[in-house]
Amino acid sequence: MRIVMTGSGYVGLVSGACLADFGHDVICVDKDARKIELLQGGGVPIYEPGLADLIARNVKAGRLTFTTDLAGSVSQADVVFIAVGTPARRGDGHADLSYVYAAAQEIASNLSGFTVIVTKSTVPVGTGDEVDRIVRETNPDAQFAVASNPEFLREGAAIQDFKRPDRIVVGIEDERARPVMEEVYRPLYLNQAPIQFTGRRTSELIKYAANAFLAMKITYINEMADLCENVGADVQQVARGIGLDNRIGSKFLHAGPGYGGSCFPKDTLALVKTAEDAGAPIRLIETTVAINESRKRAMARKVVAVCNGSVRGKTIAVLGLTFKPNTDDMRDAPSIAIIQALQDGGAQVRAYDPEGMDAARAMMSGVEFCDNPYVAAQGAAAVVIVTEWDALRALDLPRLKGIMSGDGLVDLRNIYRPADAEAAGFVYVSVGRGAAPEIEELVQAAE
Ligand code: UDX
Repeated sequence: MRIVMTGSGYVGLVSGACLADFGHDVICVDKDARKIELLQGGGVPIYEPGLADLIARNVKAGRLTFTTDLAGSVSQADVVFIAVGTPARRGDGHADLSYVYAAAQEIASNLSGFTVIVTKSTVPVGTGDEVDRIVRETNPDAQFAVASNPEFLREGAAIQDFKRPDRIVVGIEDERARPVMEEVYRPLYLNQAPIQFTGRRTSELIKYAANAFLAMKITYINEMADLCENVGADVQQVARGIGLDNRIGSKFLHAGPGYGGSCFPKDTLALVKTAEDAGAPIRLIETTVAINESRKRAMARKVVAVCNGSVRGKTIAVLGLTFKPNTDDMRDAPSIAIIQALQDGGAQVRAYDPEGMDAARAMMSGVEFCDNPYVAAQGAAAVVIVTEWDALRALDLPRLKGIMSGDGLVDLRNIYRPADAEAAGFVYVSVGRGAAPEIEELVQAAE
């Protein structure tokens, strides 16, 4: 199959490289000439484990190329994916579809022979219909079908998720697209990954319904964690106890500082808007969005508490900045709101992250970025772990404590055992693990 991937961002690049690895001829296109130059020169613009090797292997085999020329690529293609950005529109939270529609128009003018146009970007229900209309209007003679094929890739595990998916969802309105999409995913199909063919609108909704459900699941355990703190229970045991019930499932029940990233915050918001507009508001997700938003900043109160009620004039070390480990992605990372709240409270922030500091530098001011966790902890009244990078899981706690001026360790990912932290001399606060009542009183006093 000859495949064009429109948009070489995170989703486009991973999908394009994986499809090339299946043996298809793939052209990844992007408007950003610098990005394409970088890729043509063997560079990779994002950090994703395994991606650089995968790209190199397929470029070498002649199956994967990069270009800025969408018009020139489309005419040869059997399948054209649209994997451009759909950021939340400023002001109303709706997904901004201008890039999707612009791509559809450009693709339409250059079609030749029967082509399946596939939206891979996360798009609101009905976007496929609009793409269909735009293509038909732009090029009335075109032979094409528009399909929806949402991605379910987790950053940091995207290649594995693409190659071993729980399912592939394909929404079609034109039966001619079915054999083409089966061919695209044939290696997975043969590996028994279920392909669910459905209507296009249903497919578009499945993506939002899945992400919103996961965001809600995280938010549920986060609120349960707050309750655990107040009643002296352990949220990790609660998560295990409920997760062993197959109807609930054990995944996505890690309590923490709130979800972030490029998907959950944007997709939950977009679903809320879609549901509102359709006259069927989903109040569970409206509430999920609101709880998660306030939770991030509220995490700073735990830091204030271990600093005896105030961080004013104190140094706080923040370890782990990205929204989760194994990525350099800072989008909607809880660390942003937490650091802002600490600075608002008068703290000096020193920070360390294995991959995210370049992106963090561009969006934060007044933060001192450090080369490693121990440098960041120098003179700190408290250390806050925001992201559970492996590199932060085995810190030498006595050494860390020795470098600091104070004794606070706020572990927002529950990656340390309370007894180990306390043995190293820390006042240790984590999430949902039955905090001592006096900490709770301090939190209230600090508010
Ligand atoms: C997510 C979806 O998992 C993926 O299917 C979708 O297509 C894109 O969005 P991603 O944003 O890469 O993927 O990250 P994910 O691993 O899902 O984590 C999202 C956020 O939730 C992170 O901030 C993470 O720290 C948080 N999280 C996740 C928790 O706080 N607790 C959990 O138990 C799981």
